Amino acid sequence: MDKKNSYDFESFKEKIKENNDIVTTISKYVHLERKGKRYWGCCPFHMEKTPSFAVLEDGQYYICYGCKATGDVIKFIEKIENCDFMDACRILAKNANIEMPTFSTDENVVKLKKEKDEIYRCLKDTALYYYNNLKLPESQIALNYLAKRKLSMNTVTAFGIGYSLGWSEVINYLIQKGYSIDIMQKAGVIELKTNQNNEKLDSKNIKNYYDCYAKRLVFPIINSLGNVVGFSARLLEDANFAKYKNTAQTIVFDKSKCVFSINNIKKLKGNNELNEIIIVEGQMDVISLYQAGIKNAVACMGTALTGLHAKELKKFCDKVVLCFDGDGAGQKATLRSIDTLVKSGLDVYVVKMPEKLDPDEYIQKYGKDSYLNLIANAKYWVEFLIYNYLENYDISKPNQKTNYINTCLHIIKQLESESEQSIYLNILKGIVNVPTEILRKDMEVLDEAVISEDSVESKEEEILPSKENAYVKAVKFVIASLLHSKSYAKLDDDILDNLLNNDYITIYNYVKRCVNENKQPIVSTVFDMFDVENNFDIRDIVTYEFNKTCDNEQFYGDCVKTMVEYGLKHKQNELLKAINQCRDIDERKVLAQQLNSIIKKINSIKER
Ligand code: UTP
Ligand code: MN
Repeated sequence: MDKKNSYDFESFKEKIKENNDIVTTISKYVHLERKGKRYWGCCPFHMEKTPSFAVLEDGQYYICYGCKATGDVIKFIEKIENCDFMDACRILAKNANIEMPTFSTDENVVKLKKEKDEIYRCLKDTALYYYNNLKLPESQIALNYLAKRKLSMNTVTAFGIGYSLGWSEVINYLIQKGYSIDIMQKAGVIELKTNQNNEKLDSKNIKNYYDCYAKRLVFPIINSLGNVVGFSARLLEDANFAKYKNTAQTIVFDKSKCVFSINNIKKLKGNNELNEIIIVEGQMDVISLYQAGIKNAVACMGTALTGLHAKELKKFCDKVVLCFDGDGAGQKATLRSIDTLVKSGLDVYVVKMPEKLDPDEYIQKYGKDSYLNLIANAKYWVEFLIYNYLENYDISKPNQKTNYINTCLHIIKQLESESEQSIYLNILKGIVNVPTEILRKDMEVLDEAVISEDSVESKEEEILPSKENAYVKAVKFVIASLLHSKSYAKLDDDILDNLLNNDYITIYNYVKRCVNENKQPIVSTVFDMFDVENNFDIRDIVTYEFNKTCDNEQFYGDCVKTMVEYGLKHKQNELLKAINQCRDIDERKVLAQQLNSIIKKINSIKER
């Protein structure tokens, strides 16, 4: 059973579901009555007298409109029998006279795993090699630098910091250890040289490769399982090229997911010593805080914080404190990151660093206790934004004051409970001197549609797009139409290109697979892909209520158009932001090229 391979397993699950009709199965536990296309009964998962529990034969899923429980037939068995997923499968397999298979192992999966393991070993040996270099006399210059940054040998060891002596030393070492050029390259340790015309040299010749981190101080990046996955390497002296060089994308390293020092977070969590995670900008900040005894700081590797980073953090802790640099760039990154973190369901607190310092500089200047004091006084993100926006408006002018109030109300409105809302309405009242009852009334009638244009005008980028803006509405309709096999719903690359959410892409691709195989999509398959009960966007799509006014071809076409327009604008904005943020010159060039092609597309649509 442990050796299950995913492909076999998927088809097994499909078979189980095909052979256990959900209406028949649930009928054994719940009295159901048919009304139209649905079967209704009293929900077995909460107390109720009038039925709000619906079972859909077409889609093969259930949904309770009272307690919001939803799932496929396997989920139903899990819940009603109070068993785990595999046991639910066993029950259903038995019920349908299907044999529980022993899953065979897929050759490709094994091969990939082998290669990954080899890469991990190579990265670990590389890190050890760089680390051990520090004991050599040739590394004096690196030791001097470490001393200048006030890093102790203990800290160096704790993070496995090392030094690359030159362009080829590591290659010779790794060859002697038995690694192939291919693995070194796949690990992101070495690269092929190019000639003056930017053409790659002969890849067969070992002499044509160089150490990516040559002459730099090297910081290994370690994942939560303790594997070295890549490196970030710093120049010892200021120069005209990138201060840090990070490992490029590899099979085991993805900057958009990877969190520096997550291994230390895991240790804290294991010792029950983790209350919050501090997010800083640079790995030097993380290391400096660690040396001072503050071990719960992490950093992203020179990229903007993404939802994937947030997801990684949320595995360990629900509370994060954003503590980016006090300069303009740091403040901008703070605003964008709040959005991402809040959307990922984290409790976000924010510190504004004084004197444009970064945490490393601050702690060197003022000490640990002073820094901890800043962290302890971090503001909840809503309060932070309220004060932050205040700097963008002159509220002695009535129209600016109105705009300011509206901007704040949009933020406060997103809070879940009324009591939470009233805390921040009170803060706002203190600033603008308008009674809270009036602020609340205004907040309740806020027009969702106005928000984006309004906040664009008010200097800052669209920080928190309203949850149900035109784009989201359009996407939900389009994806729901595809999933529910509406006759007018046609697959189209324009749709795929402008799905800004991976979950929607997953559903789109599922429908596409079905169409290619000449099958009709089954809604309940979506339950295999997501935790539908807890993913509200997906829930909306699965349980989409089509109505007559919009359920047609014309509306579908309009929605696709809305998606394309919004999608292109969004990509343009994201690229602009990324270019602003990016410190790597080569990466910037690539981004600029992408921006160019987006602008061309936008212009061609206008001409249409
Ligand atoms: P900082 O310049 O704030 O880094 O960039 P830092 O940690 O304070 O660096 P020191 O103190 O000068 O050594 C923040 C992060 O951005 C990434 C790195 O991950 C860095 O930690 N970065 C920065 C790059 O990837 N490339 C660069 O050229 C510069
Ligand atoms: Mn710094």
